[in-house]
Amino acid sequence: MSLERIDKLLASTGRWSRKEVKQLLRQGRVLVNGRPAARPEEKADPEAGDILVDGERVACGGFVYVMLHKPAGLLSATEDPRQPTVMQLLPPPLRRRGLFPVGRLDKDTTGLLLLTDDGALAHALLSPKRHVDKVYLAQVEGRVDAQDAAALAGGLVLGGGLRCLPAGLEPLGDGSRCLVTLREGKYHQVKRMLAARGKPVLALKRLSMGPLTLDGKLEPGQWRYLTPFEVAQLKNPGARP
Ligand code: URA
Repeated sequence: MSLERIDKLLASTGRWSRKEVKQLLRQGRVLVNGRPAARPEEKADPEAGDILVDGERVACGGFVYVMLHKPAGLLSATEDPRQPTVMQLLPPPLRRRGLFPVGRLDKDTTGLLLLTDDGALAHALLSPKRHVDKVYLAQVEGRVDAQDAAALAGGLVLGGGLRCLPAGLEPLGDGSRCLVTLREGKYHQVKRMLAARGKPVLALKRLSMGPLTLDGKLEPGQWRYLTPFEVAQLKNPGARP
């Protein structure tokens, strides 16, 4: 058991600045082992998991996992000399945690983006060997049909001889929209696959990544922490609530 200062632990979650942590403590909103912690130098065990802020249990000392509804117009990168990135949507304390996007969405693609500082999990999710399914909603010029679905299922060969793994395509409604399921992540892959079928993509949104589904309550630009169950599922797809 290693004890650490409560102000340091709370600030390390990236949810509050040091100043905000001081306020929380002063206002008696932090409970450690059931008792209000009033002094910043008070110590607690980050592993014991009994730190509550406003009645909510706060995981301290571990990695941070954030689900972002990426809007169009921002780069999926931690920084860029010329263009705004998704990091500007996070509050400064969280930005200072060193989070990074797990994989990239194009600047004009919207939808589910996971951000974390857990390098091992990011590596596992992006590993070509893991074949994590990513589901996209695409709006296309023209109409996709069963022949397009069969072509993607057979593994398309793109320009330059680039062979894709078999992918899913489910036409929706009149076929001007479809769900595309990829098990890999080549550059501009959905756009290139549908363009190769003569159905250029007009809009693209990622709906899910493995077991993680975009929270319908998040508007573009909004984010939330993953629940402990979502984190467990990402680490071990067979996890149960
Ligand atoms: N495929 C694309 O073409 N773009 C994305 O952003 C993601 C997948």
